[in-house]
Amino acid sequence: MNGEPVATPPVPTARRRTVVVTGASRGIGAAIRDRLLARGHTVIGIGRTVAALPGQPRFVPVALDLAQLDALPDRLAELLTNHPQLDGLVANAGAGRFGHLEQHNALAIRRAVELNLLSPMLVVRALLPALRRNAPADVVLMGSEAALRGSRRGCLYSAAKFGLRGFAQALRAECAAGGVRVTQVHPGLVRTSFFDDLDFAPGEAPEHAILPGDVAEAVDSILHLRSQTVVDEIVLSPLTNCVQRTRR
Ligand SMILES: NC(=O)c1ccc[n+]([C@@H]2O[C@H](COP(=O)([O-])OP(=O)(O)OC[C@H]3O[C@@H](n4cnc5c(N)ncnc54)[C@H](OP(=O)(O)O)[C@@H]3O)[C@@H](O)[C@H]2O)c1
Repeated sequence: MNGEPVATPPVPTARRRTVVVTGASRGIGAAIRDRLLARGHTVIGIGRTVAALPGQPRFVPVALDLAQLDALPDRLAELLTNHPQLDGLVANAGAGRFGHLEQHNALAIRRAVELNLLSPMLVVRALLPALRRNAPADVVLMGSEAALRGSRRGCLYSAAKFGLRGFAQALRAECAAGGVRVTQVHPGLVRTSFFDDLDFAPGEAPEHAILPGDVAEAVDSILHLRSQTVVDEIVLSPLTNCVQRTRR
């Protein structure tokens, strides 16, 4: 493997799907978006800054701030009215906030949990009836290595991602009878703009970070498995864990 994108042949027309990807404007979500589009699927991409892709009518951008929880049910109901054929959700949007607990005030704690835990729960809650109606269908939740192991300065992020993992496990059991698969993806360090506002980043060597395309490839394979097989959880890690301080 040399980091080159793997060929993604389009799937047959009858198996083409309509998938909501949150956080589709950049990073991991953009890589998932591009991968699914290359496969021939329709992607409804949510983000605050998401934009249309020139020449790509199968990408539908939906500008939405997922942290505005009160507005979510109405906005997602509107999305469903426009796209009732929806049969996949990749709940990927999120952001990291790191530091010792006492460095965060109550509002920051609330915001971190709202974006990384409550928001994906509400998105699934809103879209699940349609996913069930259109089954076989998929829910993929973007976890993190921080969902598996708490580490210093990661209390807010881990609290939310651990919570999301519990939610996903329970949901997986709840949804199986309706033909909706639930999968969690737990990446380690991925080279994206996630670190732009943080004081650390993956080391610079290729083996210090996963690439967004690697996560997209995993999600692609999860979605294209025989519909009676579920990938419950998948963990992707860089070959070598190396973090560098970037400022402060
Ligand atoms: N990078 C890593 O090392 C890593 C590791 C493990 C897990 N993850 C997880 O992977 C997911 C994607 O992260 P990334 O690395 O791709 O980060 P990123 O490059 O910063 O992208 C984050 C995405 O989430 C969207 N987003 C953030 N806040 C939002 C809001 N309030 N409303 C709507 N969309 C919002 C952003 O879109 P807009 O700015 O357009 O709103 C953007 O598309 C996150 O859940 C993150 O926790 C990342």
